[in-house]
Amino acid sequence: MEFTELIEKRRSVRAFDASRKVTREEIEKLVYAAIQAPSWKNSQTARYYAVLSDEMAEKVFTECLPAFNAASAKGAALVVTTFVANRSGFERDGNPTNECGNGWGYYDLGLHNGNFVLKATDLGLCTLIMGIRDAEKLRELLLIPETETVVAVIAVGKAAQDPEKPKRKEPGDILKVF
Ligand SMILES: Cc1cc2nc3c(=O)[nH]c(=O)nc-3n(C[C@H](O)[C@H](O)[C@H](O)COP(=O)(O)O)c2cc1C
Repeated sequence: MEFTELIEKRRSVRAFDASRKVTREEIEKLVYAAIQAPSWKNSQTARYYAVLSDEMAEKVFTECLPAFNAASAKGAALVVTTFVANRSGFERDGNPTNECGNGWGYYDLGLHNGNFVLKATDLGLCTLIMGIRDAEKLRELLLIPETETVVAVIAVGKAAQDPEKPKRKEPGDILKVF
């Protein structure tokens, strides 16, 4: 798909068709796209935990997501995204390079996840990024090590709705040119 069309087309979907499941191969393509993103000194600290089995997904829905997000994501595969902490934005001696500290880890993960959701759109899949989730329950359920910071859960699936695009600002609203 042409780039501008792709970025305009992507939107958050909150109703998924459970009869059309995402495959492991499709998730691998999304993660491949994510890996192409830039990162601090090429540190590549983003990590992905894909929940494809119905049994495990049910546990995430009931134990790790608030009811409204679980309802939105039902029928989708769930991909938990984390980053290895204290690496992106840090010197070899363990000190932060500047005041942003682990903010750079979040920054890099966001770049990765941007590629991830755009690639999903390119493949005809839909996504919902969820920041409202229980990080510690996800860590426990998916055996995520303490060295990683749990960030978002991304629902990936086939859409069962065609939502309106929420209104965007204009460049003049957010850009100052000197
Ligand atoms: C970091 C982040 C966290 C979000 N968390 C949630 C969430 O927990 N639940 C939800 O329904 N949508 C969530 N969203 C989706 C946003 O509400 C959505 O991206 C925004 O309204 C713009 O709509 P669009 O994605 O369709 O363009 C999140 C989006 C981002 C980027």
